[in-house]
Amino acid sequence: MVETIEWVSEGGSGHVLMIDQRRLPREQVFVTCRTYEDVADAIRTMVIRGAPAIGVAAAMGVALGVQQGADYETVHTTLAATRPTAVNLFWGLERMRLLHASLVNASQTERLLRFIDESQKIRLEDIAMCKAIGRHGAPLVPDGKTVLTHCNAGALATAGYGTALGVIRAAVEAGKKIDVFADETRPFLQGARLTAWELQQDGIPTTLITDNMAGHFLKSGRIGCVVVGADRIAGNGDVANKIGTYSVAVLAKENGIPFYVAAPSSTFDLTLDSGDQIPIEQRSSDEVTHVFGVHVAPENIGVENPAFDVTPARYVTAIICEKGVARAPYKESLRAILG
Ligand code: MRU
Repeated sequence: MVETIEWVSEGGSGHVLMIDQRRLPREQVFVTCRTYEDVADAIRTMVIRGAPAIGVAAAMGVALGVQQGADYETVHTTLAATRPTAVNLFWGLERMRLLHASLVNASQTERLLRFIDESQKIRLEDIAMCKAIGRHGAPLVPDGKTVLTHCNAGALATAGYGTALGVIRAAVEAGKKIDVFADETRPFLQGARLTAWELQQDGIPTTLITDNMAGHFLKSGRIGCVVVGADRIAGNGDVANKIGTYSVAVLAKENGIPFYVAAPSSTFDLTLDSGDQIPIEQRSSDEVTHVFGVHVAPENIGVENPAFDVTPARYVTAIICEKGVARAPYKESLRAILG
């Protein structure tokens, strides 16, 4: 599996290398970021996407900002303004701010080394969290059935291994005979382009379906469970994830199929009482009116393009994080599990 993001050392300094997720799976092209502005652009334009991966990118972006000798608040504000929904972005920035506060008297050389080191730690911790999520989640996956997933919550959406796809990978590694249905995930097609590609690389049997087929297959008896990732989980267990997740959750409940959410602790926002308070990113209308650069809708048509929706906690069978599995009532279980 290719690396989603890495810090490439050049003596005492370095640059950030990311695979360009906009061009997968047709081309494996890498984008080099030498400044924090490059990283901000990469996050905004979806070179890198997926909540945990965005958090890692933001941390590396701060390290680049320190390397540039840029004003710390400007670096922080620029990166914080890229995408509003995934709380991992702000979590990564806060981790770096704590470090910044502890280094007021340090030399520029020491500061840079410590910032690079911290961003590397965040990356490695993310992979470790994904593996632990996999270990906790694998026992929940029914053997001999199909797992349905939405968007891409895989290695590409994290520093490696994935959250929802981490659960699937761990179930396969545990010897379960499962296959995957991947929703294509309009309008950006993370399912068709990224999930399908990732799972195919791993040799996990995968079938691509369009989003509007999910209900049909959830009713068919073939699907054993749904596993998705998350961009932000509120204190009551409401889950913001890629647009279309809510519809899948309702259809899963209607058909008596468990609906699992897999996310690291960096995706939880216990400062929010409910999902109604989660900011939802609105993206360009071009993503809806165009398919691969071809304008398919009438000119001047009105368009809505919320990138995420919020699934109320009552549809969520369990939330799998690196510390264990939480079930309703989430107000208590999330606090207990996260400490
Ligand atoms: O707009 P994206 O591609 O960044 O949205 C990604 C998702 O919604 C993922 O499901 C979520 O970030 C979890 S990734 C482990």
